Amino acid sequence: MKQDNLINNNKYLQGIFEPIHFECDIENLEVIGNIPHELNGMLYKIGANPQFIYSSNYHLFEGDGMVHKITFNNGKANYTNRYIRTQKFLKEQKVGHAIYAGFLDRVDKLKQIQEGLFPDTVNINVINHANKLLAVNEGNDIYQIDNELNTLNKFTFTDDLPGMTAHPRICPVTNQLIMYSYLSRDVITSNMIKYFIANGDGKIIHKENISVPYKSMLHDFAITKDYIIFPIFPLTCNIARLFNSENIYKWEHTLGCYFGIMPRFGKSEDCIWIHQDEPGLAVHIVSAYQEGDLVILDACYSNDIPDNADGFTPDNEETFPMYLTRWVFDVKKKIIVSKNKIDNVSCEFPKIDERYTGDKYNHVYVASTLHSKWYGHEFDAITHYDIRNHTKQVHNFGKDTLCVEPLFVPRNATSPEGDGFLLVFAYNKLTDTSDLVILDANHVDKEPLGIVKIPHRVPFTFHAENYTNFYLTF
Ligand SMILES: [Fe+2]
Repeated sequence: MKQDNLINNNKYLQGIFEPIHFECDIENLEVIGNIPHELNGMLYKIGANPQFIYSSNYHLFEGDGMVHKITFNNGKANYTNRYIRTQKFLKEQKVGHAIYAGFLDRVDKLKQIQEGLFPDTVNINVINHANKLLAVNEGNDIYQIDNELNTLNKFTFTDDLPGMTAHPRICPVTNQLIMYSYLSRDVITSNMIKYFIANGDGKIIHKENISVPYKSMLHDFAITKDYIIFPIFPLTCNIARLFNSENIYKWEHTLGCYFGIMPRFGKSEDCIWIHQDEPGLAVHIVSAYQEGDLVILDACYSNDIPDNADGFTPDNEETFPMYLTRWVFDVKKKIIVSKNKIDNVSCEFPKIDERYTGDKYNHVYVASTLHSKWYGHEFDAITHYDIRNHTKQVHNFGKDTLCVEPLFVPRNATSPEGDGFLLVFAYNKLTDTSDLVILDANHVDKEPLGIVKIPHRVPFTFHAENYTNFYLTF
């Protein structure tokens, strides 16, 4: 089937999701308004941008990674984009067509796995740690890139951690990189996850295999000063399902949820598991912190998922609103003290001021859905929640513009929490072009401080972790 026909049959290949097929460097982009003089540094955002499509079963999670970089330098902005040149990408580029089946091409996928053919796609996050820029995925290989977005090499922290979560956490106090993997080949078929801590130099200083109540899609987790928290939601993961032509992931609502809380340097047996009868799902965790024996955790969460849900078909219109939700756990009593929905507007892709990762925070920023029913995929507003003051501000982009995850950048290294800027890619459906919108994080509802005009579409991007990228000097 021609690529055009595949695109027309799949929502993940249309509009904001449609891939671009060029790499470019554009200097001195047009700016409406001003780029704040404090904003100097690099924004790296990565998303799925398939070079070729295998079939109409294409799913957003498996497109080749493309990184988009905006460099801010003394009031000017430059743009660069590059593919991550994985082995999969290079092999397919050489032959001029897709080779690797997607996970919804179940028969072909099983055959390829049996032949030892695994894609090494990385498309979910770019992290900056120990002077290395690493592109990461949900358990796949890790690729190191340079500041100019050239792909350097496959990267491993250690031989027994070939890949890791797309959402490691960097402790701003110790600069430790805290990470795990549930899809590494040695644990993929067991109820185990691999847990690792690297010090600020990137050297592994702790590792532990942790038993979990059941194997789930463990996309994200949280850290506090003393603990790590593994949220286990009943979207279970079992690669053996491929043998029955089923999806690897399955909604099993009867299992309920578990929250594993373990000392940061703990062992598997130190992990306490707190059960929640209510089934629900959070893909992204906001963050967490401690107060005495209490652990407070926020996530974008839905308890509205039908028992027969199947969230991994490409034409599935039935997505579910996610709401900012707060849990309070008592670690000593091993109970959930409270669980409360903070707002009634669907949101996803939460961010905080990352200098407060693991510590008490008051400001949460999310991508919200006001005009669409395709929750979790189409966002048209940025919301700032001031948790302490029970207030929120909304920047509504309107029905013709879609946005993605916001990134908070502090005004400077010592500015108070929340004093800074939100950087947001926004896609205009009418012009088929994108802007990088700069909002004042304390006045999200006001007009943008600056709008950087990009003369083409920046397809939907997932994440950026930019703890240090904005303190670089030129
Ligand atoms: Fe994610």
